[in-house]
Amino acid sequence: MAEISIQINGRKQSHQAEARTHLGDFIREKSRLTGTNLSCEHGVCGACTVLVDGRPVRSCITFAGACEGHEVRTVEGYDDDPIMLRLRSAFSEHHALQCGFCTPGMLATSRDIVLRLPEADEARVRIELSGNICRCTGYQGITAAILSVLQALREQPDDQVQALRAAVVQHVQQDWTQGGFVTFEADQEEVSTVESVAADAGSGEKGKGQAIQGGFDAGFPAAQVWAFMTDLPQVAACLPGAVIESQEGASVQGKIAIKFGPMSAAFKGHATLERDEAHRTAVLRGEGVDSLSQSRARGDVQYQVTAQGETGSRVSVELVYALQGPLAQFSRSGLVQDFVRRMIAEFGKNVNLRLEKPLAQGEQPAVAQFNPVRMFFSILWDRFKGFFRRS
Ligand code: FES
Ligand code: FES
Repeated sequence: MAEISIQINGRKQSHQAEARTHLGDFIREKSRLTGTNLSCEHGVCGACTVLVDGRPVRSCITFAGACEGHEVRTVEGYDDDPIMLRLRSAFSEHHALQCGFCTPGMLATSRDIVLRLPEADEARVRIELSGNICRCTGYQGITAAILSVLQALREQPDDQVQALRAAVVQHVQQDWTQGGFVTFEADQEEVSTVESVAADAGSGEKGKGQAIQGGFDAGFPAAQVWAFMTDLPQVAACLPGAVIESQEGASVQGKIAIKFGPMSAAFKGHATLERDEAHRTAVLRGEGVDSLSQSRARGDVQYQVTAQGETGSRVSVELVYALQGPLAQFSRSGLVQDFVRRMIAEFGKNVNLRLEKPLAQGEQPAVAQFNPVRMFFSILWDRFKGFFRRS
Protein backbone atom coordinates (compact mmCIF):
# COMPACT_ATOMS: atom_id res chain seq x y z
CA MET A 1 0.00 0.00 0.00
CA ALA A 2 1.17 3.51 -0.73
CA GLU A 3 -0.44 6.91 -0.77
CA ILE A 4 -1.50 7.90 -4.26
CA SER A 5 -2.57 11.48 -4.99
CA ILE A 6 -4.45 12.37 -8.15
CA GLN A 7 -6.13 15.59 -9.17
CA ILE A 8 -9.69 14.51 -10.00
CA ASN A 9 -12.24 17.06 -11.16
CA GLY A 10 -10.05 19.87 -9.84
CA ARG A 11 -9.63 18.37 -6.33
CA LYS A 12 -6.69 16.49 -4.98
CA GLN A 13 -7.67 12.96 -3.98
CA SER A 14 -5.12 11.19 -1.76
CA HIS A 15 -5.75 7.60 -0.72
CA GLN A 16 -3.86 4.51 0.31
CA ALA A 17 -3.92 2.09 -2.61
CA GLU A 18 -2.11 -0.97 -3.90
CA ALA A 19 0.36 -0.51 -6.75
CA ARG A 20 -1.96 -2.68 -8.86
CA THR A 21 -5.05 -0.53 -8.21
CA HIS A 22 -6.41 0.69 -11.50
CA LEU A 23 -7.72 4.16 -12.02
CA GLY A 24 -11.35 3.01 -12.31
CA ASP A 25 -11.27 1.47 -8.82
CA PHE A 26 -9.41 4.47 -7.42
CA ILE A 27 -12.13 6.75 -8.75
CA ARG A 28 -15.07 4.61 -7.62
CA GLU A 29 -13.88 2.85 -4.48
CA LYS A 30 -11.42 5.32 -3.01
CA SER A 31 -12.74 8.66 -4.18
CA ARG A 32 -16.41 7.59 -4.12
CA LEU A 33 -17.08 9.12 -7.53
CA THR A 34 -19.41 6.40 -8.74
CA GLY A 35 -20.53 8.02 -11.97
CA THR A 36 -17.74 6.17 -13.79
CA ASN A 37 -18.96 2.67 -14.59
CA LEU A 38 -16.88 -0.46 -14.94
CA SER A 39 -18.13 -3.24 -17.13
CA CYS A 40 -15.72 -5.48 -19.05
CA GLU A 41 -12.60 -4.33 -17.13
CA HIS A 42 -10.61 -5.44 -20.17
CA GLY A 43 -10.38 -2.13 -22.02
CA VAL A 44 -12.92 -3.23 -24.59
CA CYS A 45 -16.33 -1.69 -23.80
CA GLY A 46 -15.39 1.92 -23.06
CA ALA A 47 -17.84 2.25 -20.15
CA CYS A 48 -15.05 3.35 -17.80
CA THR A 49 -13.67 6.05 -20.11
CA VAL A 50 -12.54 9.21 -18.31
CA LEU A 51 -10.37 12.10 -19.41
CA VAL A 52 -6.71 12.12 -18.38
CA ASP A 53 -5.14 15.45 -19.27
CA GLY A 54 -8.17 16.06 -21.48
CA ARG A 55 -7.95 12.83 -23.47
CA PRO A 56 -10.19 9.77 -23.23
CA VAL A 57 -8.52 6.92 -21.36
CA ARG A 58 -9.79 3.50 -20.26
CA SER A 59 -9.67 3.77 -16.48
CA CYS A 60 -9.94 -0.02 -16.08
CA ILE A 61 -6.56 -0.66 -17.72
CA THR A 62 -4.70 2.39 -16.40
CA PHE A 63 -2.88 2.14 -13.10
CA ALA A 64 -3.86 4.81 -10.58
CA GLY A 65 -0.21 5.23 -9.62
CA ALA A 66 0.63 6.17 -13.20
CA CYS A 67 -1.81 9.10 -12.99
CA GLU A 68 -0.03 10.97 -10.20
CA GLY A 69 0.64 14.46 -11.47
CA HIS A 70 -2.03 14.19 -14.17
CA GLU A 71 -5.49 15.76 -14.35
CA VAL A 72 -8.39 13.32 -14.38
CA ARG A 73 -11.92 14.36 -15.25
CA THR A 74 -14.92 12.14 -14.65
CA VAL A 75 -18.59 12.57 -15.46
CA GLU A 76 -19.04 14.43 -12.15
CA GLY A 77 -16.57 17.10 -13.26
CA TYR A 78 -18.02 18.51 -16.45
CA ASP A 79 -20.30 21.16 -14.95
CA ASP A 80 -18.78 24.18 -16.62
CA ASP A 81 -17.37 22.50 -19.71
CA PRO A 82 -18.76 24.29 -22.79
CA ILE A 83 -18.83 21.13 -24.92
CA MET A 84 -20.46 19.01 -22.25
CA LEU A 85 -23.13 21.68 -21.74
CA ARG A 86 -24.11 21.21 -25.37
CA LEU A 87 -23.77 17.44 -25.31
CA ARG A 88 -25.91 17.10 -22.20
CA SER A 89 -28.88 18.83 -23.72
CA ALA A 90 -28.32 17.14 -27.11
CA PHE A 91 -28.30 13.70 -25.43
CA SER A 92 -31.63 14.54 -23.75
CA GLU A 93 -33.13 15.94 -26.90
CA HIS A 94 -32.18 12.91 -29.03
CA HIS A 95 -33.11 10.28 -26.41
CA ALA A 96 -29.50 9.16 -26.25
CA LEU A 97 -29.48 8.28 -22.56
CA GLN A 98 -31.59 5.09 -22.34
CA CYS A 99 -30.39 3.10 -19.28
CA GLY A 100 -27.40 5.38 -19.00
CA PHE A 101 -24.83 2.78 -18.00
CA CYS A 102 -22.55 3.53 -20.93
CA THR A 103 -23.34 7.25 -20.89
CA PRO A 104 -20.40 8.58 -18.83
CA GLY A 105 -17.96 6.86 -21.18
CA MET A 106 -19.98 7.83 -24.24
CA LEU A 107 -19.92 11.46 -23.13
CA ALA A 108 -16.14 11.42 -22.68
CA THR A 109 -15.70 9.99 -26.19
CA SER A 110 -18.34 12.32 -27.65
CA ARG A 111 -16.56 15.32 -26.19
CA ASP A 112 -13.36 14.12 -27.81
CA ILE A 113 -15.11 13.78 -31.19
CA VAL A 114 -16.56 17.28 -30.97
CA LEU A 115 -13.15 18.64 -30.00
CA ARG A 116 -11.00 16.88 -32.56
CA LEU A 117 -13.29 16.41 -35.54
CA PRO A 118 -15.32 19.55 -36.27
CA GLU A 119 -16.18 18.26 -39.75
CA ALA A 120 -17.06 14.68 -38.83
CA ASP A 121 -19.98 13.18 -40.72
CA GLU A 122 -22.21 10.34 -39.55
CA ALA A 123 -19.88 7.58 -40.80
CA ARG A 124 -16.93 9.11 -39.00
CA VAL A 125 -18.86 9.63 -35.78
CA ARG A 126 -19.94 5.98 -35.83
CA ILE A 127 -16.39 4.77 -36.35
CA GLU A 128 -15.12 7.01 -33.55
CA LEU A 129 -17.82 5.70 -31.23
CA SER A 130 -17.11 2.08 -32.05
CA GLY A 131 -14.82 1.74 -29.03
CA ASN A 132 -17.77 2.40 -26.70
CA ILE A 133 -20.31 -0.36 -26.43
CA CYS A 134 -23.92 0.41 -25.50
CA ARG A 135 -25.80 -2.68 -24.34
CA CYS A 136 -29.09 -0.96 -25.17
CA THR A 137 -27.93 -0.62 -28.80
CA GLY A 138 -28.58 3.08 -28.45
CA TYR A 139 -26.13 4.34 -31.03
CA GLN A 140 -28.73 6.08 -33.17
CA GLY A 141 -29.62 8.68 -30.55
CA ILE A 142 -26.01 9.15 -29.45
CA THR A 143 -24.82 9.64 -33.03
CA ALA A 144 -27.64 12.10 -33.71
CA ALA A 145 -26.79 14.04 -30.55
CA ILE A 146 -23.13 14.40 -31.50
CA LEU A 147 -23.98 15.37 -35.08
CA SER A 148 -26.39 18.02 -33.84
CA VAL A 149 -23.68 19.57 -31.63
CA LEU A 150 -21.20 19.56 -34.52
CA GLN A 151 -23.75 21.11 -36.83
CA ALA A 152 -24.67 23.84 -34.32
CA LEU A 153 -20.99 24.69 -33.86
CA ARG A 154 -20.45 24.89 -37.60
CA GLU A 155 -23.40 27.22 -37.99
CA GLN A 156 -22.48 29.35 -35.02
CA PRO A 157 -18.92 28.91 -33.75
CA ASP A 158 -18.44 29.25 -30.02
CA ASP A 159 -15.34 31.08 -28.75
CA GLN A 160 -14.85 28.78 -25.78
CA VAL A 161 -15.08 25.65 -27.92
CA GLN A 162 -12.74 27.18 -30.49
CA ALA A 163 -10.20 27.87 -27.74
CA LEU A 164 -10.43 24.25 -26.56
CA ARG A 165 -9.95 22.99 -30.13
CA ALA A 166 -6.91 25.21 -30.63
CA ALA A 167 -5.43 23.89 -27.38
CA VAL A 168 -5.92 20.30 -28.56
CA VAL A 169 -4.09 20.98 -31.82
CA GLN A 170 -1.21 22.58 -29.93
CA HIS A 171 -1.08 19.70 -27.46
CA VAL A 172 -0.91 17.11 -30.23
CA GLN A 173 1.82 19.01 -32.04
CA GLN A 174 3.84 19.22 -28.81
CA ASP A 175 3.49 15.46 -28.34
CA TRP A 176 4.74 14.82 -31.81
CA THR A 177 7.72 17.11 -31.55
CA GLN A 178 8.65 15.46 -28.25
CA GLY A 179 9.15 12.10 -29.89
CA GLY A 180 5.57 10.87 -29.92
CA PHE A 181 3.64 10.30 -33.09
CA VAL A 182 4.10 12.13 -36.32
CA THR A 183 1.76 12.07 -39.25
CA PHE A 184 2.65 11.83 -42.89
CA GLU A 185 0.90 12.23 -46.15
CA ALA A 186 0.16 8.73 -47.33
CA ASP A 187 0.62 9.79 -50.91
CA GLN A 188 4.29 10.60 -50.52
CA GLU A 189 6.83 9.31 -53.06
CA GLU A 190 5.93 6.01 -54.61
CA VAL A 191 8.47 3.20 -54.61
CA SER A 192 9.29 2.89 -58.27
CA THR A 193 11.87 0.14 -58.11
CA VAL A 194 9.52 -2.57 -56.89
CA GLU A 195 6.14 -3.48 -58.22
CA SER A 196 4.71 -4.00 -54.79
CA VAL A 197 5.74 -4.03 -51.20
CA ALA A 198 3.47 -6.68 -49.84
CA ALA A 199 3.34 -8.13 -46.38
CA ASP A 200 1.73 -11.47 -45.88
CA ALA A 201 1.46 -12.64 -42.36
CA GLY A 202 0.46 -15.69 -40.47
CA SER A 203 0.35 -15.97 -36.73
CA GLY A 204 0.33 -18.45 -33.94
CA GLU A 205 1.69 -19.40 -30.55
CA LYS A 206 5.43 -19.86 -30.30
CA GLY A 207 7.33 -20.62 -27.13
CA LYS A 208 6.30 -18.14 -24.50
CA GLY A 209 4.96 -15.54 -26.85
CA GLN A 210 2.70 -14.81 -29.74
CA ALA A 211 4.34 -15.25 -33.14
CA ILE A 212 3.58 -13.32 -36.29
CA GLN A 213 5.30 -14.01 -39.58
CA GLY A 214 5.44 -11.59 -42.45
CA GLY A 215 7.78 -10.11 -44.95
CA PHE A 216 8.28 -7.75 -47.82
CA ASP A 217 9.99 -7.57 -51.18
CA ALA A 218 12.87 -5.22 -51.80
CA GLY A 219 13.90 -4.16 -55.27
CA PHE A 220 17.63 -4.31 -54.48
CA PRO A 221 20.31 -7.06 -54.43
CA ALA A 222 20.35 -9.19 -51.29
CA ALA A 223 23.86 -8.06 -50.25
CA GLN A 224 22.78 -4.42 -50.33
CA VAL A 225 19.57 -5.10 -48.40
CA TRP A 226 21.45 -7.21 -45.83
CA ALA A 227 24.00 -4.42 -45.27
CA PHE A 228 21.15 -2.00 -44.70
CA MET A 229 19.23 -4.34 -42.40
CA THR A 230 22.17 -4.70 -40.03
CA ASP A 231 22.63 -0.95 -39.60
CA LEU A 232 20.58 -0.35 -36.45
CA PRO A 233 20.00 3.43 -36.76
CA GLN A 234 18.89 2.97 -40.37
CA VAL A 235 16.57 0.10 -39.49
CA ALA A 236 15.06 2.01 -36.55
CA ALA A 237 14.45 5.03 -38.75
CA CYS A 238 12.28 2.85 -40.99
CA LEU A 239 10.21 1.48 -38.11
CA PRO A 240 7.24 3.76 -37.42
CA GLY A 241 7.37 5.28 -33.93
CA ALA A 242 10.89 4.00 -33.09
CA VAL A 243 13.67 6.24 -31.80
CA ILE A 244 17.22 5.18 -30.88
CA GLU A 245 18.55 7.22 -27.97
CA SER A 246 22.00 5.68 -27.65
CA GLN A 247 24.03 2.90 -29.21
CA GLU A 248 26.99 0.87 -28.11
CA GLY A 249 28.08 -1.68 -30.69
CA ALA A 250 25.17 -4.03 -31.34
CA SER A 251 23.13 -2.75 -28.35
CA VAL A 252 20.78 0.20 -28.40
CA GLN A 253 18.63 2.09 -25.91
CA GLY A 254 15.51 3.68 -27.23
CA LYS A 255 11.76 3.77 -27.35
CA ILE A 256 8.91 2.81 -29.59
CA ALA A 257 5.52 4.48 -29.50
CA ILE A 258 2.39 2.73 -30.70
CA LYS A 259 -1.17 3.92 -30.85
CA PHE A 260 -3.91 1.76 -32.14
CA GLY A 261 -7.55 2.37 -31.35
CA PRO A 262 -7.89 2.23 -27.56
CA MET A 263 -4.33 1.03 -27.15
CA SER A 264 -1.66 3.64 -26.70
CA ALA A 265 1.81 3.00 -25.33
CA ALA A 266 5.39 4.20 -25.45
CA PHE A 267 7.78 1.38 -24.60
CA LYS A 268 11.21 2.46 -23.44
CA GLY A 269 13.96 -0.13 -23.21
CA HIS A 270 16.91 -1.73 -24.92
CA ALA A 271 17.59 -4.12 -27.78
CA THR A 272 20.51 -6.15 -29.06
CA LEU A 273 21.16 -7.32 -32.59
CA GLU A 274 22.67 -10.76 -33.21
CA ARG A 275 23.81 -11.41 -36.77
CA ASP A 276 24.61 -14.48 -38.80
CA GLU A 277 26.41 -13.14 -41.84
CA ALA A 278 26.68 -16.53 -43.56
CA HIS A 279 22.93 -17.04 -43.67
CA ARG A 280 22.00 -13.37 -43.79
CA THR A 281 19.80 -13.77 -40.74
CA ALA A 282 19.60 -11.54 -37.68
CA VAL A 283 17.63 -11.42 -34.44
CA LEU A 284 16.84 -8.16 -32.70
CA ARG A 285 16.06 -8.99 -29.06
CA GLY A 286 14.39 -6.23 -27.11
CA GLU A 287 12.37 -5.46 -24.03
CA GLY A 288 10.78 -2.37 -22.60
CA VAL A 289 8.22 -0.86 -20.25
CA ASP A 290 5.33 1.46 -21.06
CA SER A 291 5.49 4.38 -18.61
CA LEU A 292 1.74 4.98 -18.33
CA SER A 293 0.26 1.47 -18.13
CA GLN A 294 3.44 -0.07 -16.67
CA SER A 295 2.99 -2.94 -19.15
CA ARG A 296 6.14 -4.84 -20.09
CA ALA A 297 6.89 -6.03 -23.60
CA ARG A 298 9.51 -8.52 -24.66
CA GLY A 299 10.07 -9.50 -28.24
CA ASP A 300 12.42 -10.96 -30.80
CA VAL A 301 12.34 -9.77 -34.37
CA GLN A 302 14.05 -12.33 -36.54
CA TYR A 303 14.66 -11.55 -40.18
CA GLN A 304 16.32 -13.19 -43.12
CA VAL A 305 17.30 -11.67 -46.44
CA THR A 306 17.17 -13.99 -49.43
CA ALA A 307 18.03 -13.20 -53.02
CA GLN A 308 15.26 -13.10 -55.60
CA GLY A 309 17.21 -13.11 -58.83
CA GLU A 310 20.06 -10.68 -59.40
CA THR A 311 18.37 -7.48 -58.45
CA GLY A 312 15.66 -8.30 -55.96
CA SER A 313 15.36 -9.80 -52.52
CA ARG A 314 12.85 -10.95 -49.99
CA VAL A 315 13.00 -9.99 -46.34
CA SER A 316 11.21 -12.56 -44.19
CA VAL A 317 10.29 -11.30 -40.75
CA GLU A 318 9.11 -13.17 -37.69
CA LEU A 319 8.03 -11.36 -34.56
CA VAL A 320 7.67 -13.31 -31.32
CA TYR A 321 6.39 -11.13 -28.52
CA ALA A 322 4.94 -11.32 -25.05
CA LEU A 323 3.11 -8.59 -23.17
CA GLN A 324 2.59 -8.43 -19.42
CA GLY A 325 0.35 -5.97 -17.61
CA PRO A 326 -2.80 -4.16 -18.68
CA LEU A 327 -1.92 -4.12 -22.39
CA ALA A 328 -1.70 -7.92 -22.44
CA GLN A 329 -5.48 -7.84 -22.94
CA PHE A 330 -4.84 -6.85 -26.52
CA SER A 331 -1.99 -9.13 -27.41
CA ARG A 332 -4.02 -11.91 -28.98
CA SER A 333 -6.67 -9.91 -30.74
CA GLY A 334 -6.99 -10.21 -34.51
CA LEU A 335 -6.75 -6.44 -34.76
CA VAL A 336 -3.27 -6.56 -33.27
CA GLN A 337 -2.24 -9.21 -35.80
CA ASP A 338 -3.48 -6.94 -38.57
CA PHE A 339 -1.72 -4.00 -37.02
CA VAL A 340 1.63 -5.83 -36.94
CA ARG A 341 1.17 -7.04 -40.51
CA ARG A 342 0.67 -3.48 -41.68
CA MET A 343 3.57 -2.23 -39.62
CA ILE A 344 5.76 -4.74 -41.46
CA ALA A 345 4.41 -3.47 -44.80
CA GLU A 346 5.05 0.13 -43.71
CA PHE A 347 8.54 -0.82 -42.61
CA GLY A 348 9.20 -2.53 -45.97
CA LYS A 349 8.06 0.55 -47.82
CA ASN A 350 10.40 2.75 -45.78
CA VAL A 351 13.34 0.37 -46.32
CA ASN A 352 12.81 0.54 -50.08
CA LEU A 353 12.56 4.31 -50.00
CA ARG A 354 15.77 4.60 -47.99
CA LEU A 355 17.65 2.16 -50.22
CA GLU A 356 16.54 4.15 -53.20
CA LYS A 357 17.71 7.41 -51.66
CA PRO A 358 20.62 6.63 -49.32
CA LEU A 359 21.60 9.23 -46.73
CA ALA A 360 24.35 11.66 -47.62
CA GLN A 361 27.63 11.43 -45.69
CA GLY A 362 26.98 12.45 -42.05
CA GLU A 363 23.24 12.84 -42.53
CA GLN A 364 21.13 11.50 -39.65
CA PRO A 365 18.16 9.30 -40.53
CA ALA A 366 14.80 10.89 -39.73
CA VAL A 367 12.21 9.11 -37.58
CA ALA A 368 9.79 7.14 -39.81
CA GLN A 369 6.50 8.94 -40.12
CA PHE A 370 3.27 7.18 -39.62
CA ASN A 371 -0.43 7.84 -39.18
CA PRO A 372 -1.83 5.35 -36.66
CA VAL A 373 -5.36 6.71 -36.98
CA ARG A 374 -5.36 6.16 -40.73
CA MET A 375 -4.04 2.64 -40.25
CA PHE A 376 -6.64 1.84 -37.59
CA PHE A 377 -9.51 2.89 -39.84
CA SER A 378 -8.08 1.09 -42.81
CA ILE A 379 -7.94 -2.15 -40.80
CA LEU A 380 -11.46 -1.66 -39.49
CA TRP A 381 -12.67 -1.01 -43.00
CA ASP A 382 -11.01 -4.18 -44.33
CA ARG A 383 -12.58 -6.20 -41.53
CA PHE A 384 -15.94 -4.62 -42.22
CA LYS A 385 -15.69 -5.62 -45.91
CA GLY A 386 -14.52 -9.11 -44.94
CA PHE A 387 -17.52 -9.51 -42.66
CA PHE A 388 -19.92 -8.83 -45.50
CA ARG A 389 -18.02 -11.10 -47.85
CA ARG A 390 -18.44 -13.94 -45.37
CA SER A 391 -22.12 -13.32 -44.60
S1 FES B 1 -14.72 -1.34 -18.17
FE1 FES B 1 -14.83 -1.85 -20.27
S2 FES B 1 -13.27 -0.64 -21.15
FE2 FES B 1 -13.03 -0.33 -19.03
S1 FES C 1 -27.63 3.45 -22.57
FE1 FES C 1 -27.68 1.57 -21.57
S2 FES C 1 -25.79 0.68 -22.04
FE2 FES C 1 -25.84 2.40 -23.26
